[in-house]
Amino acid sequence: MKILILDDAEAVSARAAGEIASQLSAKPASVLGLATGGTMEAVYEQLIALHRDGRASFAGATSFNLDEYVGLAGDHPCSYRHYMAQKLFDHIDIAPGAAHLPLGEAEDPAAEAERYEAAVAAAGDIDLQLLGLGLNGHIGFNEPTSSLASITRLKTLERSTREANSRYFPEGEEPPRLAITMGIGTIMRAREVLLVATGEAKARAVAQVIEGPISARWPGSILQMHRQATVLLDRAAASELELLDYYLDVHPA
Ligand code: F6R
Repeated sequence: MKILILDDAEAVSARAAGEIASQLSAKPASVLGLATGGTMEAVYEQLIALHRDGRASFAGATSFNLDEYVGLAGDHPCSYRHYMAQKLFDHIDIAPGAAHLPLGEAEDPAAEAERYEAAVAAAGDIDLQLLGLGLNGHIGFNEPTSSLASITRLKTLERSTREANSRYFPEGEEPPRLAITMGIGTIMRAREVLLVATGEAKARAVAQVIEGPISARWPGSILQMHRQATVLLDRAAASELELLDYYLDVHPA
């Protein structure tokens, strides 16, 4: 794992956006794996700025998002389809139909998960997978004890995840209990992964994922087995790392 620790969240999101832009210029027909959540909002803002400057074109790219809530139609303001349109797709040149998310409103969500997994495989799997990190160590919505070999499927969200995400839902409305998520096995097939975490609240999960044992208790820890994984952190998210000085020495900011 390559551990890059930058001064603050702004530097982290600029770096993450830069990595995606470099991927697109090296391979315009890249298959990108995308994530949602608070951390990614700043990354997408920077990516839109790069696109406006002519430094990132998505015209030849395909994307697959990690996950979607079950039961939310794409036009629901809290669906990830809506989030992606608002925060990224409506502002870039990705071709219509090239940006994929699981269909949250599918009549048969289990069949939809199977279809989605097959679509990722048919696209040749992901070139660069962008990941955020849950407080409980989840990647995508692969909650603790998810099989480290899992593929796209239905997953019940942990209470802490639903609480963390309830800030996006109107008062009185709760995040759904179920989501369709790419599996850990699906994510591990990506040729390159970029995990982004910022803020002190993530420090414990970051330390477990990078320095703890590989375990389904902290699903992101499987990335220790990935051949090309980069973890981008700000100082706050890196604050519980035992080998902090070593990482800073190997990759000075
Ligand atoms: C959502 C996803 C999740 C988030 C994670 C962190 O598509 O993949 O794993 O990345 O829950 O979310 P934030 O950034 O809101 O803390």
